[in-house]
Amino acid sequence: MPITHQHDVLIIGGGAAGLSLALRVADKCSVAIITKGPSKDGSTYYAQGGMSAVLSDDDSFGSHIEDTINVGGTLSNEKTVKFVIEHGPENIRWMQELGVPFSSETFNSGKRELHLTREGGHTHRRVVHAADATGKAMSDTLENHARHHDNISFFEHHIAVDLITTEKQGYGDLSNSCIGAYILNKQSNRVETFQARFVVLATGGASKVYLYTSNPDGSTGDGIAMAWRAGCSVSNMEFNQFHPTCLYHPEAKSFLISEAIRGEGGKLLLPDGKQFMHKFDERGELAPRDIVARAIDHEMKRLGAPCVYLDISHRSPAFIASHFPTIHERCLKFGIDITKEPIPVVPAAHYTCGGVNTDLSGKTEITNLYAIGETAHTGLHGSNRMASNSLLECLVFSQSTANDILSLIDKPHHSQQISNWDESRVTDSDEDVVISHNWDELRRFMWDYVGIVRTNKRLERAMHRVSLLQHEIDEYYSNFRISSDLIELRNLTLVAELIIRSAMSRKESRGLHFSLDYPEADESTMARDTVLRPQQKSNKEKIKIIK
Ligand code: FAD
Ligand code: SIN
Repeated sequence: MPITHQHDVLIIGGGAAGLSLALRVADKCSVAIITKGPSKDGSTYYAQGGMSAVLSDDDSFGSHIEDTINVGGTLSNEKTVKFVIEHGPENIRWMQELGVPFSSETFNSGKRELHLTREGGHTHRRVVHAADATGKAMSDTLENHARHHDNISFFEHHIAVDLITTEKQGYGDLSNSCIGAYILNKQSNRVETFQARFVVLATGGASKVYLYTSNPDGSTGDGIAMAWRAGCSVSNMEFNQFHPTCLYHPEAKSFLISEAIRGEGGKLLLPDGKQFMHKFDERGELAPRDIVARAIDHEMKRLGAPCVYLDISHRSPAFIASHFPTIHERCLKFGIDITKEPIPVVPAAHYTCGGVNTDLSGKTEITNLYAIGETAHTGLHGSNRMASNSLLECLVFSQSTANDILSLIDKPHHSQQISNWDESRVTDSDEDVVISHNWDELRRFMWDYVGIVRTNKRLERAMHRVSLLQHEIDEYYSNFRISSDLIELRNLTLVAELIIRSAMSRKESRGLHFSLDYPEADESTMARDTVLRPQQKSNKEKIKIIK
């Protein structure tokens, strides 16, 4: 018997963006939060450095705006940047009111204030944090409130497969609206229908498309892929951020070593102990991430070195233990005492700057469909995100999206009949190895050909392979019962295509996109976003529905 759920607001994703939105609308709306794994499975939980906001007297909105735009390689949208930054302080206050235990310090005057740290690209101390586990502190607090709200229901171990739109359902006379999503219940292995007045994609990024990443396993670009299939445009998918410093150790699964370590004086060293960042940028260790990651990549290739080193051991053990307890403890587990020795580090894929296009209320091009957090392209990050601006964007857009939804919720509306998911023509797969093999292949060639340094030839090679994989996956998807791995692989492959197409169309180097064939920025023709729009492909639609 098909199962159908009905809510006012369906939020796909339980990270900072999804949870904070849920709390902001729940007094007036019934809310479903969907997460692929247990809650806290997104990147938010792992965030270390903090959330940026203008809070000190010697800082200003103007300075935060200027830094964001400088780091963003002039592609940031000034209106968005201003909007986000001006809403930063009130969002920090909101989280303090909820009880997020941000780190504080006592000043000479005896007053206790938030401790502000620094990261790359910021010209002032403005990063609010909870030691080096800011994401955990935020997730725990937001989730605790959400769990106690009568209007919020959690659906863990559920994975959204595709959005339900009036166009796909054949309501041709209406403008295309989102009316729900098909969601696979991973425990029962059945696809359930979730109907909602408003659907919000808060599904995080797509860094899992690369072999080495700081992200948890679920960062597979599902929201971007679902929005694209539903008809939304995406922008700036070529700008994949590589974090310069992830722990290099065979048993550490890309554990991040926060940029705040460099903000508090950490030095990057070559294997012979020499500092090298000043050769690449006068800001040294605090240059923006694209520059630091490329410098490390360059030095590792030049020397044939497997890693470089990050050294904070000149700070006192007490300082290190209080500011970086998580990193200290994790490194100790791998036999590295950061109070005494440098940490071996390498770059890894970290953040998806591009995504689903939205306006300042999180609205996409489909009526009643919103995208917030890392899944969205709002114009804040341009060609390179500045550290700690992501959690800020999650919070500010959950606020503006909530305001938009609350302004519409009381308007009369008419709910449409939705067709159920059809599994009558598919069987169980007998060759799941195809999925795991293709996952590995995709992530490896994306790392090798579409990584920190690109060329035309590498991009062509990657595109050729993506096309072959897509053909195979489409066939598999049509014939076999879907699984979580297949859904993610299908999405990752589509996102890979969008990344490569965007990278091929940017014939210059800017921010996170660096091509050996076009090593300079081209301000005359390329100082613009890369916008991709889906073709109408309704007759090829791969959605399995019965009328
Ligand atoms: P996430 O927190 O990634 O949550 C995504 C959610 O969507 C998950 O619950 C997932 O289960 C769900 N989901 C995805 N697809 C589906 C689907 N198909 N069906 C159902 N559910 C789905 N940024 C900063 O600003 N400051 C930092 O200090 C910082 N540190 C970081 C450290 C690390 C190690 C990492 C990985 C990132 C860091 N970032 C930081 C980036 C920042 O954490 C993320 O960009 C941000 O948390 C994203 O939040 P989100 O709510 O958009 O998505
Ligand atoms: C970090 O702590 O280095 C991550 C900060 C970020 O990604 O914004």
